[in-house]
Amino acid sequence: GSGPIVDPFGRSITYLRVSVTDRCDFRCTYCMSENMTFLPRQDLLTLEELDRLCSAFVARGVRRLRLTGGEPLVRKNILWLVRALSRHLETGALDELTLTTNGSQLSRYARELAECGVRRINVSIDTLDPEKFKTITRWGDLAKVLEGIDAAREAGIAVKLNAVALKGQNEDELTGLLRFAHARGMDLTLIETMPMGEIGEDRTDRYLPLNTVRERLEREFTLTDLTYRTGGPARYVHVEETGGRLGFITPLTHNFCESCNRVRLTCTGTLYLCLGQNDAADLREVLRAPGSDDETLSAAIDAAVALKPKGHDFMIGRNAPRTKIARHMSVTGG
Ligand code: GTP
Ligand code: 5AD
Ligand code: SF4
Repeated sequence: GSGPIVDPFGRSITYLRVSVTDRCDFRCTYCMSENMTFLPRQDLLTLEELDRLCSAFVARGVRRLRLTGGEPLVRKNILWLVRALSRHLETGALDELTLTTNGSQLSRYARELAECGVRRINVSIDTLDPEKFKTITRWGDLAKVLEGIDAAREAGIAVKLNAVALKGQNEDELTGLLRFAHARGMDLTLIETMPMGEIGEDRTDRYLPLNTVRERLEREFTLTDLTYRTGGPARYVHVEETGGRLGFITPLTHNFCESCNRVRLTCTGTLYLCLGQNDAADLREVLRAPGSDDETLSAAIDAAVALKPKGHDFMIGRNAPRTKIARHMSVTGG
């Protein structure tokens, strides 16, 4: 096919998330188990292949690309890919090229990312307490991440902070994160923990529904709903006291699949059609088949998107089935 990619439910796919590596230099407790087995390096697509696949999506009307991981900035030579993809910004084919990162390598990369046309990034940070940060990430260095955030802002990149709301872990710090973010002109989004992959603990113990968080915040802050959207799943409010924006990503309490515009490519060339379902297609095979060209790739994209399900059915709690999604969040980068 040619022209825009449309799924069986009439949703246009204009956003591609690309996990460039499943590896990460952290092991956030809600994301990974302590001893993860990562993919053997020979299974990875090369950066040239990733570029080719992404470009095939851009040719079919994808307007936004987000690099994720694992941690995207631990992939060797990642700037080569960012630079290669930035040509689509220059031609106007792409509106946005961005990343979701844990920030650990940002101080090193911020300037070059900005030079490649990256205008906005999302940095995951669940606590501002160095000890707790070390506990949640299992070995992350908060100071390094804060340095990275500063470097990005100095380079002119807008930073959004992401925090997964965790019962008994960072629930008393969400106010602090909000003040911290807003004092620096950054948006903050809170995220409900999603049941993906075995992490060696019961997710029910950490699950904190965001409607509860919102109620608590409203004792201290005046929140007004905004129509502002980034094209992602977050619904935003304006916080009167801080003058900043706060987003809620609520897959469990308020499903947003109806307006889904995205698919996810992994570093091995598997295309996942929904974060919370197992439907997938192998684009690597197509890419590497003898005689494969832009047309075969384009047809494979259509065939894959035809599998896109209506939505996820994540559940956490006593009645929830055992983890239905065996892969970890780090395979698709969220
Ligand atoms: P922008 O809105 O573009 O800033 O990005 P985002 O918030 O969508 O992306 P980010 O990578 O920062 O992801 C934040 C959280 O949203 C992560 O926990 C993702 O797993 C989650 N998320 C992103 N897209 C989806 C989606 O389609 N479905 C679900 N259930 N969660 C998503
Ligand atoms: N549930 C919700 N969010 C998660 N993230 C990682 N694992 C999970 C999970 N199980 C978040 C990270 C990062 C984003 C890409 O996904 O904190 O902000
Ligand atoms: Fe790494 Fe992000 Fe997973 Fe943490 S949440 S282990 S930073 S991929």
